[in-house]
Amino acid sequence: MTQPKKLFIKTYGCQMNVYDSERMAEAMGGQGYVQTDSPDDADMILLNTCHIREKAAEKIYSELGRYKGLKAERPDLRIGVAGCVAQAEGAEIMRRQPMVDLVVGPQSYHRLPELEAKARGGEKALDTDFPEEDKFERLKSRPKAKRGPTAFLTVQEGCDKFCAFCVVPYTRGAEVSRPADRVLSEARDLVERGVRELTLLGQNVNAYHGHERGLAGLIRELAKIDGLARIRFTTSHPNDMDDDLIAAHGDCDKLMPYLHLPVQAGSDKILKRMNRQHTAEQYLRLIERLRAARPDLHLSGDFIVGFPEETEADFRDTMALIEAVEYGSAFSFKYSERPGTPAAERPQVPEAEKDDRLQRLQALLTRQQRALQDAMVGREVGVLFEKTGRLPGQMVGKSDYLHAVHVAAEGLQPGDLRPVRIVESGPNSLKGVLV
Ligand code: 5AD
Ligand code: SF4
Repeated sequence: MTQPKKLFIKTYGCQMNVYDSERMAEAMGGQGYVQTDSPDDADMILLNTCHIREKAAEKIYSELGRYKGLKAERPDLRIGVAGCVAQAEGAEIMRRQPMVDLVVGPQSYHRLPELEAKARGGEKALDTDFPEEDKFERLKSRPKAKRGPTAFLTVQEGCDKFCAFCVVPYTRGAEVSRPADRVLSEARDLVERGVRELTLLGQNVNAYHGHERGLAGLIRELAKIDGLARIRFTTSHPNDMDDDLIAAHGDCDKLMPYLHLPVQAGSDKILKRMNRQHTAEQYLRLIERLRAARPDLHLSGDFIVGFPEETEADFRDTMALIEAVEYGSAFSFKYSERPGTPAAERPQVPEAEKDDRLQRLQALLTRQQRALQDAMVGREVGVLFEKTGRLPGQMVGKSDYLHAVHVAAEGLQPGDLRPVRIVESGPNSLKGVLV
């Protein structure tokens, strides 16, 4: 019997890349590859990359530099770059790092096996097309092996919003939704394999139109699957939160009370220049409607500080919006110039100013996050257990609101969903006891 070849995949960036990496690993299974945790014994190294900020993209080149020695020792080693850096830079990657054998953009993953064969034959393999076909249908179907209790499922890709700072519409292309029947059959399959919580993914997931009633329609269909206990979705644009999706937060028990709804900034001037197509007030009204549907909803957001022409007064508007919303979690970034996007051409905010604003913003968000987390103490909440903790007899899982929760109890298994009383709030997680 021939030895299986080993594939090392390193994933950067968003959850969609995590999902894509899983699907690529499965597809490569058909080529006789098994996954390995270390690049040292790999026959192929694949970096699934992120281009969203400059730092994320530069990391790829330094990571590739680290594999030089390995490639010199083992010329048979094949090195591939996938994801959004592959899409944005294409053949430039092979020019900058000639040891790269394969470059594949996110819309061409179904061609990975052919590309691998080409690279194995000693040729350079490059594919950054935006083909018409549904890559997920063409990727080898998922094997039936058991798996952990949580899974990502990509239902939508691409973005038509063209925020002035963002590369996604260029790297991932126009919005495309997977048909609901395909999503439902993949979901049923995952549930049969042990999945109890699904996170539906899309760059603009609430613009999903693969079901006649949009994302809410899809969620309501998914909720009928026995054995599926929890549904989440990410990432959403405020302008695509329709009435039914807001209502689903109140009436669909399986839809979890946590919503990632990025606003980016709180100043109307900056929102306009970002091309976000809504005001701060409209965002706040939307949050009110969501909380009317689901009063205990935890909100999460993304923020950019130091967008071109952001003044101290604009920044204070962002702080005021954060004060008004009270976020349960958030991600915040310094504006990063991305070549080819409209904002890259505009007058930039000095780096020191960006640093200072990011610090102040993160201090406020951390305080809010901690306050909401501390307020869980004494409450009872559902916890889906995922794995054993560091202490003997301890299990770790996620609350309905996505907090990490540690519980010491005999006999708990990954996949168990239990009511837990929260007894303590630590820096990054909660401690609880079974009710
Ligand atoms: N600079 C900084 N942050 C960015 N994001 C997207 N593009 C940029 C950029 N050029 C952030 C946004 C988005 C998140 C995924 O990344 O906040 O919501
Ligand atoms: Fe980028 Fe999101 Fe704006 Fe689309 S909606 S352009 S993915 S930030």
